[in-house]
Parts: sequence; C-alpha cells; structure tokens
Amino acid sequence: MLQINQDFSLQRLNTFGIDVSSKYFVEVDSLNEIVALTNDAIFQNNDNLILGGGSNILFTKNYNGIIVKNNLKGIEIVEETNEHVIIKTAAGEVWHQFVLFCINNNYAGVENLSLIPGCVGASPMQNIGAYGLEIKDVFHSLEAYHLKEKMLVEFNLSDCEFGYRESIFKRKFKNQFIITSVTFKLNKKPDFKISYGAIEQQLKAMKVKELTIKAISDAVIAIRSSKLPNPAELGNAGSFFKNPEISLEKYKSLKSEFNDVVAYDVANGNKKLAAGWLIEQCGWKGKTIGNCGVHKNQALVLVNYGGSKGEEIYNLSTEVINSVNSKFGVELEREVNII
Ligand code: FAD
Ligand code: EPU
Repeated sequence: MLQINQDFSLQRLNTFGIDVSSKYFVEVDSLNEIVALTNDAIFQNNDNLILGGGSNILFTKNYNGIIVKNNLKGIEIVEETNEHVIIKTAAGEVWHQFVLFCINNNYAGVENLSLIPGCVGASPMQNIGAYGLEIKDVFHSLEAYHLKEKMLVEFNLSDCEFGYRESIFKRKFKNQFIITSVTFKLNKKPDFKISYGAIEQQLKAMKVKELTIKAISDAVIAIRSSKLPNPAELGNAGSFFKNPEISLEKYKSLKSEFNDVVAYDVANGNKKLAAGWLIEQCGWKGKTIGNCGVHKNQALVLVNYGGSKGEEIYNLSTEVINSVNSKFGVELEREVNII
C-alpha cells in the first residue's frame, strides 16, 4: 500500500546531511507499487526524483515535487556455468551488501568496488568506479520502468552508453526511468586486479599470503577508510568533481609549467588529471568556509561540518572550480548531482 508523505525531511536520506524537505515523499517496495504510483494524481502532477542512498546528491533547496525512494529488494542467480554466474539484483539492495554477497560466494569481479556507498539501482547512473574497475566491466543488463510510457524496458551494455562517471541515464534519459534491477556477469575464476593505486602495497602491509577476492576487498576497504571520510561521521558525497580529461598538447604545456602534475593515460591518447592534486595546489585542502570545507585528506571531497546549507557547499564548489581554472586553465566538472 503506497503511503505518500508530505513535507518530509530528507536530512537522513542524503549523505551530506543537508536539512531540506520534500513536498511529497514515497517509498516503493515492488514493481506493482511503482505502477500504482505512476497512476496516482500526485505523481502525475508533480516533478519527481528517484532516490537511492542519497550519496551522490547535493540538495540546494527544498524539493518541490515527489521523491521516490527505491526499496526494491532481492538477489537472484539467473544463470550459472563453470565460468560465470549471472546475478539479478534489485535496485534497492545496498551496493556494498551485494559486493559482500559476491565475495562470500566467491563470485569475482566487484571486489575492487567494495565500500562504495549507495544502492545497486544507482550504480549504472554514473557507472560507478574505483581501483581500476567500473561496473560496465561486470554489467550484463538492467531493467528500468519508463515513468511516463509506463513500461518496463531492458537495457544491455551498449544501450547504457557508459563512460567515465557517465551513462545514458544522466544524459538523454535523465529523469525518465526508475531502474528496478541490475544484472551482473561475474566470474567464478577470478582475474585479480591489483595494479591500481595502493592495492599491492596495502596487501603487503596486511601480510596477505594468498591472493583472494576477499583479500582485495579488505585492502580496498582499508585504503578507502584511510582517506575518504565516513558519511556517518562527516557529511560528504565522495568526489565532488570528476577527474578532468585534457588533450596531450594541453598536458604537455601544463607539465612544462608544473612538473609534478598528476596525470593518467586515457585510451584515446588524452590525459586524465588528478583533480585532487589541482585543488590541493590551489591551497584548498583542509580549508573551512563557514560550515563546510575541503577535506583534509582528500581535496576532491567537500564536507559538511554540521549545519551547512546545500547552497554553501555549491558556492564553495564554484570557488574551487574558478581557482583551478585560473591557475591551470582546466575546467572542473561536478560529479555530484545538484538538485
Ligand atoms: P543517490 O545519491 O540516491 O542518487 C544518485 C543519482 O542516481 C540521482 O540522480 C538519482 O536520482 C539517481 N538514481 C538513484 N537510484 C535510481 C534508480 N533506481 N533509478 C533511476 N535513478 C536513480 N562513486 C564512485 O563511482 N566511486 C567511488 O569510489 C565512490 N566513493 C564514494 C565515497 C563516499 C564516501 C561517498 C559518500 C560517495 C562515493 N561515491 C563513489 C558516490 C556514490 O556512492 C555513488 O554515485 C553511488 O552509486 C550513489 O548511489 P546512491 O544510491 O546513494 O544514489
Ligand atoms: N591527490 C592529491 N591531493 C589530494 C587528493 C589526491 O595530490 O588531496 C593526487 C595524488 O597524487 C593521488 C591521486 O591524486 O595519488 C589520486 O588520488 P586517489 O587515489 O585518492 O583517487 P582520485 O583520483 O582522487 C578517484 C575517484 C574515486 C575513487 C578513487 C579510487 C573520481 C572523481 N574519483 O579519486 O571515486 O574511489 O579514484 O579509484 O574519479 C567518487 O567518485 O566519489 C570517488 C570517491
């Protein structure tokens, strides 16, 4: 039975902890409830926003529409061979719980994505990634319900147009669908990926003798916990900006001026810059402005020290963008969804 609440506080439903409310708020537990919701006059006469764990959203004002919290649950093995397992996971499952399910069953492929906050349903939105892996690497398909056409649509890998922190759901199909389930193709024979960042170093420090997906997951969790603030203790939404991609020419000119610029190769010959480095070089790391600031261990993360308004954090992000632009001639793009 659908229960549509009014003037509902969102403070505990966004990891920035911004104190805003929504004109209407509803939780959906099944496809039937989604169908019923789309037939409801309140839904039809208001803007809507789908919410998972609220870990990639900055609310800058009260939401004047209906927020739909996706609570669909269930993990189902739909196919299994000697090599692979195909797992369909409902959108409301917590991402890290799904990762733990895979690790406990020895299904490899998502261990590098341990401890990313949020729900499975949001994972394709920005093609979540970390430590050398993105969900596109284990993605099989997804199901999403078109909120106006009222039909369930299946998307395969190429339909989703995944890119770095990008998908068709952030672009052409923005706000049109509610993702109801995501199906992953995992490996029974692991292909360990430990070359990225500090994983290898961390495995050594943990004195790991036998490489397993559990060991990689533990290493990733340790690294993440050492530099990223825990939203339960300090409001944040992870990286606030994307790492910018620039041409090789632009990179060469930056390198000649800033010899220690941190950059990675991209398949198309371009370079990706570590935005955290750019922001730190502008003197922002650890800086507090009012109730918010730039995190002391990771300059890519903006934090709410308590009581910050979303607008304050947004304005801080604009200042960061402007100073990186004037020092390096590089335009940072926000990763977090601004509402
Ligand atoms: P929400 O914030 O609730 O929503 C995000 C967007 O997806 C919104 O536009 C929302 O409308 C839409 N949406 C959500 N669910 C659905 C659905 N079912 N159907 C349609 N639209 C939907 N991200 C990374 O990629 N890599 C990282 O390493 C990483 N580290 C993080 C670390 C911290 C400490 C934090 C706080 C965040 C981090 N993030 C990272 C960002 C975030 O965890 C991911 O983007 C995550 O997928 C967001 O999930 P969510 O359920 O919280 O989404
Ligand atoms: N750096 C600095 N100063 C900082 C932060 C970083 O100089 O304050 C430099 C360092 O040289 C460091 C390098 O940047 O070695 C890379 O930093 P880190 O390994 O912390 O990764 P990142 O590029 O800052 C990206 C993702 C993260 C993801 C990690 C690990 C983006 C926007 N961010 O961060 O994703 O967890 O790599 O793969 O791509 C997120 O999306 O919310 C997120 C946390």
